[in-house]
Amino acid sequence: MSNGNLDDHLFPSSDNQIQKQLLSWPQRKNIILDVAKGLAYLHHGVKPGIYHRDIKGTNILLDAEMRARVADFGLAKQSREGQSHLTTRVAGTHGYLAPEYALYGQLTEKSDVYSFGVVVLEIMSGRKALDLSSSGSPRALLITDWAWSLVKAGKVERALDASLLRGGDSPNSNPKGIMERFVLVGILCAHIMVALRPTILDALKMLEGDIEVPRIPDRPVPLGHPSFHADGNNFSISPVLSAPKLQPGDTLSELSSAPYVEINS
Ligand SMILES: Nc1ncnc2c1ncn2[C@@H]1O[C@H](COP(=O)(O)OP(=O)(O)OP(=O)(O)O)[C@@H](O)[C@H]1O
Ligand SMILES: [Mg+2]
Repeated sequence: MSNGNLDDHLFPSSDNQIQKQLLSWPQRKNIILDVAKGLAYLHHGVKPGIYHRDIKGTNILLDAEMRARVADFGLAKQSREGQSHLTTRVAGTHGYLAPEYALYGQLTEKSDVYSFGVVVLEIMSGRKALDLSSSGSPRALLITDWAWSLVKAGKVERALDASLLRGGDSPNSNPKGIMERFVLVGILCAHIMVALRPTILDALKMLEGDIEVPRIPDRPVPLGHPSFHADGNNFSISPVLSAPKLQPGDTLSELSSAPYVEINS
């Protein structure tokens, strides 16, 4: 695919070959809608449905027109008729794994919806799914926790990439209300509680404005909540990642001693 992968466009590094330009709002919107439609096909357009299991920027490829395709079916699994979920070896990538899948190996279509939500938040904010660079506290910051905190504080706008807000309120500026709606859908899709996540079909309808985005439901107090610590840390770390300090390259198997876990970082 001539424009490589999404991750390289969101997070350009000096060794990337592609000529980098910040993605525009129409490009970001189309990429998100393309990925949602690709997932809707996998989950609901084929029988039995397919779980991709590794939705993330490097597995989303961009063509000459910057339209997106879901790629890399190396971890994909077929669902089973009549079974609400599969219990499986965990595989995937840190920062994109749904908590119930990472912890219990419980795989449903909502695991892909979670990863999709994380990718939506990366695209809208220009931040990485999991930021391990912080040397202070918190030591690891999940984009889902960061964005959720902003929404709960009534500051959704702050989750938007600064480049999307240039132009202020001029008639030519990007539509802030729609961009904020995309952030809210991302947060809802990446909700900690599996039952509260929409299906990808409903997420697509929300993105396209066909149905309302419900109020973002509250979630259990994460283990990283200040009430568990005395250091006044404002951000919460999801239970999955709150305990040991993560380093790039750590695998969940090293953290949990489970011999059968394969996680990319
Ligand atoms: N058809 C393609 N066109 C352009 N780039 C591609 C194509 N197929 C794969 N790539 C790119 O090649 C690189 C290697 O892909 P690969 O799937 O092996 O690794 P990855 O996506 O970084 O990690 P993972 O193994 O977790 O999927 C990635 O940057 C991917 O985006
Ligand atoms: Mg890949």
